[in-house]
Amino acid sequence: MAFVHRSVLLEPAVNALVDPDFNAKGRRREQQGQGERVGGVFVDGTFGRGGHSRLLLTRLADDARLVVFDKDPQAIEAARELEGQDRRVTAVHSGFADMARRLAELGIDSVNGVLLDLGVSSPQIDDASRGFSFMREGPLDMRMDTDSGVTAEQWLAQASVEEMREVIAHYGEERFAFQIAKAIAGRRESRPLRTTLDLAELVAGAVRTREKGQHPATRTFQAIRIYLNKELEELAGALKTILKILAPGGRVAVISFHSLEDRLVKQSIAAAARPAAAQARLPIPEKDMPQPILISLGRILPDAAESADNVRARSAVLRVAQRTGVPLPADGGASFVPTTAPVRRKPHAGSRQGRRT
Ligand SMILES: C[S@@+](CC[C@H](N)C(=O)[O-])C[C@H]1O[C@@H](n2cnc3c(N)ncnc32)[C@H](O)[C@@H]1O
Repeated sequence: MAFVHRSVLLEPAVNALVDPDFNAKGRRREQQGQGERVGGVFVDGTFGRGGHSRLLLTRLADDARLVVFDKDPQAIEAARELEGQDRRVTAVHSGFADMARRLAELGIDSVNGVLLDLGVSSPQIDDASRGFSFMREGPLDMRMDTDSGVTAEQWLAQASVEEMREVIAHYGEERFAFQIAKAIAGRRESRPLRTTLDLAELVAGAVRTREKGQHPATRTFQAIRIYLNKELEELAGALKTILKILAPGGRVAVISFHSLEDRLVKQSIAAAARPAAAQARLPIPEKDMPQPILISLGRILPDAAESADNVRARSAVLRVAQRTGVPLPADGGASFVPTTAPVRRKPHAGSRQGRRT
């Protein structure tokens, strides 16, 4: 069955990468740029089903390159089809945090634009066998990369109550995290949790109040997914990498769907845009103050029509920034990106992932 993804903030995100006159309204100036196509190397770090990539290709010159990444083998299968149809495209099955190394393997050390459209795609949610949906009966998997890592079922079978509480409270911002963690630990003593509906029903029984229009298991599913896929760590890694590979004048555009992701993007851009702020109290002459590495081009939200038309769009935030020509500080800009892993990771018995620290 072919699952469809409706891209969020499609035009604004593509304009953000290629329109020289892009501003926070997300629109190109009337007439300007119409038909003009730009050269250079671009990266779509989250190909999904290629909605953004396909529109971007219509704006790229014949000699431009577009390297697309996705962790998900099914997304990469779709990307390989596009690669077969358009010689400007190269598909890479990898997490986007590893983009610098994977681009170097292709002989690329600098790029003109990077797009990250975070989170899960509709095909991932709609395909019950992926285990992301609390509405559809399926195995408790929740891995974006089904070729590696720990499944939700494996993690829930052995995580301590405290680990589960921490993950659900932090990544799900769930008030009843402790009650949910206790319920999971109690239930698995008699019967293991095997399916999405097993978990959804258990959580519904442990959560005492209902949020309007939201299934009681929404926050728990989101939390486990973010944790297992290391979504915030990957994002922090990518933000550091992007600072290093963006050419002067190059743009980064990130679409987030979660407040923790958006905060990380916002704080990283702000720190790189105002590196002097950290040293403002030191007796450094104005001319020796560190200069901006990025210029923020603003924040864009979906308009009312898009939000009415596509539920996924309602929580979306697009942030855009442009690299200046100022060299990176000695740490490569790592200090601009806040530390992100407040939830401790314990080794998972018997998994490849478990051997990492
Ligand atoms: C919201 S969808 C992207 C949709 C895409 N922009 C489109 O228009 O079709 C997010 C995609 O990013 C992928 N993804 C999430 N985290 C990733 C990571 N760290 N590295 C690579 N891909 C990732 C997911 O597998 C998913 O396919």
